[in-house]
Amino acid sequence: MNGLYGTYEWAARAPGRVNLIGEHTDYNDGFVMPCAIDRGIRVSARARDDSICRLYSHQFQSGWVFDLREVSKESGDSWARYPQGVAAMLQAHSGRLLSGIDAEIESDLPAASGLSSSAAFEAVFAVLWNEIDGLNLDHWTLAKLCQQAEHEYAGVKCGIMDQAASLLAQEGCALFLDTRSLQTTYDPLPKTWSLVVADTGKPRALSDSAYNERREQCEQAVLLLAGDSERHAHALRDISPERFLEQGILLPPVIRQRAAHVLGENLRVVAFRDALQRGDKSLIGRLMRASHESLRLDYEVSCAELDSMQQACEAAPGCVGARMTGAGFGGACIALVECAALIDFLAAAEARYRMDHPFCEPVFLVCRPAQGAVVERL
Ligand code: GLA
Repeated sequence: MNGLYGTYEWAARAPGRVNLIGEHTDYNDGFVMPCAIDRGIRVSARARDDSICRLYSHQFQSGWVFDLREVSKESGDSWARYPQGVAAMLQAHSGRLLSGIDAEIESDLPAASGLSSSAAFEAVFAVLWNEIDGLNLDHWTLAKLCQQAEHEYAGVKCGIMDQAASLLAQEGCALFLDTRSLQTTYDPLPKTWSLVVADTGKPRALSDSAYNERREQCEQAVLLLAGDSERHAHALRDISPERFLEQGILLPPVIRQRAAHVLGENLRVVAFRDALQRGDKSLIGRLMRASHESLRLDYEVSCAELDSMQQACEAAPGCVGARMTGAGFGGACIALVECAALIDFLAAAEARYRMDHPFCEPVFLVCRPAQGAVVERL
């Protein structure tokens, strides 16, 4: 296959994700339930026989060149930090210098919508170098290295959910992931449902600093709640609901709210999986709404646009459940929608949202649960 840099030998792609439920629980050693979606990032590449990487992003219409011998945290457009971060982590882990590449990057994943384009960016380069350089790393190891790249090169102290979803998802399924043990099970979603990503048209703002601040508040909650009896507590996962009921009242109000969200959300994820397995649509809807409300009131990561979109989706025909998805502060909602009512759903949700926010340009993406990152030799 020919392109900007000549003939490519490799094609890799990695999906974005939506999280069905379990928000801001992954860095608290909790439960999450995301799905990869059939949109993502594709890279066409050829290996070079030196350590130079020449990259071009069609989405951002910009190129970047760097040397694998001198990967730097400070250089490059924001998108270029991801491949550089991944290269640095793979090199540190394997103790090897990777092969230089010429690569073109294409995406049908909107950035800043809460669909984890950053994790997809990392995952696509991780599988690519893993294959080109014969590193033979399993996808869990790649997910952890990608997470490390995000911490160190993008400055976001994220959990493991997005990288795990992008690398480990199975087609047609949601992933139930225990972020402490990393035990993963796959639950099929009914084929009669569509995943609708309802982007508010309000890009995420100030998300990195607010995200890291939420994480610190959770750590503070653990310290304050881990009395003598729970000295082993390392994360909010270790705090029992009983202990929180007894001791939570003593916490500063903001810290109490953050902990209340995380503890409740973990219970909701488990209940959601159960409801999904039993096909209990009404409970699924209630759990998604409760998750949204908790993120709005206790975790304070929603915004007016996300709240209106959640309500617009929930009130539209065929909606099983809707909530904001991803870190918050703008971005998208996820709605589970009966396929038979999809057209009516889209028309009604869009009309109602536009009434509330006439100056926002919402985008509705109808997605399917997709497979994790893959690479092939052309
Ligand atoms: C971002 C992070 C994830 C997770 C979500 C919130 O997407 O990358 O690790 O914490 O926010 O659930």
